Amino acid sequence: VNDIDEDLADALRHYDHNALATREPSGPMYDLIQARCPVFKSEARGGFWAVAGFESLRKVARDASTFVSGQGAMIPRMGTGRPLIPMEADPPDHLRYRELLMPRLGPAVVKELEPMVRVVAREILSRALLTERADLYETYAKQLPMHVITRLLGIEESIEFWEWTETLIYGRLEDGRLGDGRSVDVAAAAAGMFSFFEAVLEKRRRGGDTRDDLVGFLLQAERDGTLVATETLELCFFLLIAGLDNTAFSIRASLWHLAAHPEDRSTLIEVPSLIRRAVEEFLRIYAPVPGLSRTAVEETELEGQSVAAGDRVLLAFAAANRDAQVFDDPHHFRLDRPSNPHLAFGVGPHRCIGSHLARLELRVAIEEVLGAVPDYSLVHPERANWYPAEELVVTFGPSASQR
Ligand code: HEM
Repeated sequence: VNDIDEDLADALRHYDHNALATREPSGPMYDLIQARCPVFKSEARGGFWAVAGFESLRKVARDASTFVSGQGAMIPRMGTGRPLIPMEADPPDHLRYRELLMPRLGPAVVKELEPMVRVVAREILSRALLTERADLYETYAKQLPMHVITRLLGIEESIEFWEWTETLIYGRLEDGRLGDGRSVDVAAAAAGMFSFFEAVLEKRRRGGDTRDDLVGFLLQAERDGTLVATETLELCFFLLIAGLDNTAFSIRASLWHLAAHPEDRSTLIEVPSLIRRAVEEFLRIYAPVPGLSRTAVEETELEGQSVAAGDRVLLAFAAANRDAQVFDDPHHFRLDRPSNPHLAFGVGPHRCIGSHLARLELRVAIEEVLGAVPDYSLVHPERANWYPAEELVVTFGPSASQR
């Protein structure tokens, strides 16, 4: 990084994949990175190498023997006191978890879930539509993934449940604070959630409950000897939280985009079959998981930089999705891309196991809104944006009163 100017060097030194400035929609930061520096060192969050070029990222993600996940995959860490498996597992255990979970969340199984997901989306949306205006982030985007995953796991939600998940997901980003400034205790929320699942698992082990939901499926794997009890517990925990904020964020960003870009909304209303393509483009341009990390287990060279054993290495998915070498016109939403190999779900051995479910939820969420209230509009267009993930207040327009 010798030839870059001082301002860029300074920006890179403080690069934080979660920060608003990094994720600015027009992507000035991303352009600088791609053009000058696909791999660089940031001093933020305790220091890490950021891999922001598409090809460099794929190389690191696929080299799981040099860059391991078992020492933590989140910057900053979630702080639950237990590994988030399978994401924070390495071979041979990692392969065992994937072989177990992949068929259960594969395309054939997920296809059958569409009617359920649609019923849930419709129910939640009809409740939001009882008022003239609604915050679609809170009342719709966040609700759908929570209702879907709790149904799939076979567990009941409670108010505590929402508090715990909010704390776990958002508390880590601001050193134990939520967006509204409330301070929260991540370790206590994790402990609460683990005891919740411990009780569920104990009850079902004792009661001989053989329902074929995800909890039942994991308990069966335990009886077969594929999992031990701590793994069953940790998998329940991660399966619950793995697809909450990211799916909610995607739904929110997509609905924001369609309100802010009426021409794209008209296209999707006229040709609903394009919604699948739109989903991929929303995932690319508004990647909900900006980055996850690895740890280098030995000294190695990466695009001319020397990475030491023990260094943390961030796979900056959101930045790589804007790499102009792979995506023409990278900062624009385009439905005519010949291909869209975005990295929103990661790449390599840890690629997202829930991608089929997430895509289904996202597509159905958009279809239901465009079907019921195609002319919804933003109440604060000047303030609302695709990021940060905060309220998205809309009014429903004439179509709502005709329903
Ligand atoms: C839009 C929504 C989602 C996005 C953007 C997303 C993104 C990701 C990414 C980037 C990874 C890679 C982790 C790594 O490389 O270290 C991942 C892993 C994973 N995701 Fe998702 N995810 C989403 C939804 C879901 C859902 C709905 C589930 C289902 C419960 C899920 C379950 C998982 C699991 C189990 C892993 C770990 C895979 C492994 O380490 O082998 N995700 N996800």
